[in-house]
Amino acid sequence: MSAFLHQRPLYSPSLESHDLSPRSRQNHQKTAAAAILSRGPALLLVLVSLLIIVGVVFPYGQSTNSVISFGPRSSESKWRSYTLSDAAAYVAKNNTLIVCAVSEAYLTFLNNWLISIARQKHHDKVLVIAEDYATLYKVNERWPGHAVLVPPALEAAAAHKFGSQGFFNFTARRPRHLLQIVELGYNVMYNDVDMVWLADPFPYLEGEHDVYFMDDMAYVKPLNHSHGLPPPGKKGRPYICSCLIYLRPTSGAKLLMKKWIDELQEQPWSRAKKANDQPAFNWALNKTAGQVDVYLLPQNAFPTGGLYFRNKTWARETKGMHVIIHNNYIIGFEKKTQRFRDYGLWLVDEHASESPLGRLE
Ligand SMILES: *[C@@H]1O[C@H](CO)[C@@H](O)[C@H](O)[C@H]1NC(C)=O
Ligand SMILES: *[C@@H]1O[C@H](CO)[C@@H](O)[C@H](O)[C@H]1NC(C)=O
Ligand SMILES: *[C@@H]1O[C@H](CO)[C@@H](O)[C@H](O)[C@H]1NC(C)=O
Ligand SMILES: *[C@@H]1O[C@H](CO)[C@@H](O)[C@H](O)[C@H]1NC(C)=O
Ligand SMILES: *[C@@H]1O[C@H](CO)[C@@H](O)[C@H](O)[C@H]1NC(C)=O
Repeated sequence: MSAFLHQRPLYSPSLESHDLSPRSRQNHQKTAAAAILSRGPALLLVLVSLLIIVGVVFPYGQSTNSVISFGPRSSESKWRSYTLSDAAAYVAKNNTLIVCAVSEAYLTFLNNWLISIARQKHHDKVLVIAEDYATLYKVNERWPGHAVLVPPALEAAAAHKFGSQGFFNFTARRPRHLLQIVELGYNVMYNDVDMVWLADPFPYLEGEHDVYFMDDMAYVKPLNHSHGLPPPGKKGRPYICSCLIYLRPTSGAKLLMKKWIDELQEQPWSRAKKANDQPAFNWALNKTAGQVDVYLLPQNAFPTGGLYFRNKTWARETKGMHVIIHNNYIIGFEKKTQRFRDYGLWLVDEHASESPLGRLE
């Protein structure tokens, strides 16, 4: 854990009157000088005074400086040097992290997701991978240490044209971050933030598989469906959602993340293609089949939005079994928000106090 995490709670105006301030340090020096002048022959005392100045005052210099310059700007510069490894070590509980990746536009969705996780008492292990500095500072200001930015930030990368290799290199960041986390030895649960937890998903992560995920196909499956990789669909690959991925720090999980990175790099990107990392994830699953131990989560507990929101009969029949709801199969920010409201899943308006970030704005 970085030292500044300890320092941050010390930031308080009252520290300025503390005897570590430059003024009182100057006074110490004046006192010592006065002692030398008035007690001329007391050489021993002079030496002792010097030792005090060198041995006691000087080492304070560093912490004094950090107290003096502890404005918002310097705490921001500290978060800039906060690494994924620092953050993971600080946030992980039971060697496990819950991560998401968000830009500023999604802060309200982040908060909604966080409230639902706090209700399951798992928020303490949430690490927000901020895609821009505004998100990094906003989250860490309210919840120190729970956001990290892995450079470069979105602004810089977005300067590349949509559809360019640079842009797609940026989308390849998600598997890179997840790979780094498993290489550090943590279990990691990745979620998109347009999700809401209705129950604790951890008991559903049965067995000791490398990776756990949910299907994005909307057709209804029997309750006892297979937990293996579904067969390829029309496009030759399966339709697993890259929105929820749980990885254990195993060689199989690392292999899958590396393959996903390769698939994102290798695909011939064009302007016509939408920036989406899901097809590459599915090709990686297809190509590593047999080498990676996968587990498909039960549909009744982890339904795609294409089923949960679109088949009322199914939703009624499986009521009480749902664990995480994904607000997909819909386009547009406003529509997503409205749909969550219609289903009683928009928690931020009335329950913001339950979020570790509190009310935003
Ligand atoms: C800790 O994690 C292990 C799996 O890595 C799990 O079996 C166990 O239940 C977890 N314990 C707690 C207290 O969450
Ligand atoms: C994208 O990534 C590839 C492979 O890492 C690299 O060779 C290339 O220079 C990158 N392109 C841009 C525009 O960042
Ligand atoms: C599910 O149950 C049905 C009937 O009870 C059975 O025929 C089928 O083989 C089961 N499927 C799996 C994957 O266990
Ligand atoms: C992988 O994709 C190919 C091409 O669509 C398909 O023939 C094959 O059955 C897939 N493999 C698995 C394990 O799904
Ligand atoms: C909706 O769900 C019901 C109940 O599970 C199922 O019988 C029906 O086929 C589903 N409808 C569609 C369009 O998938």
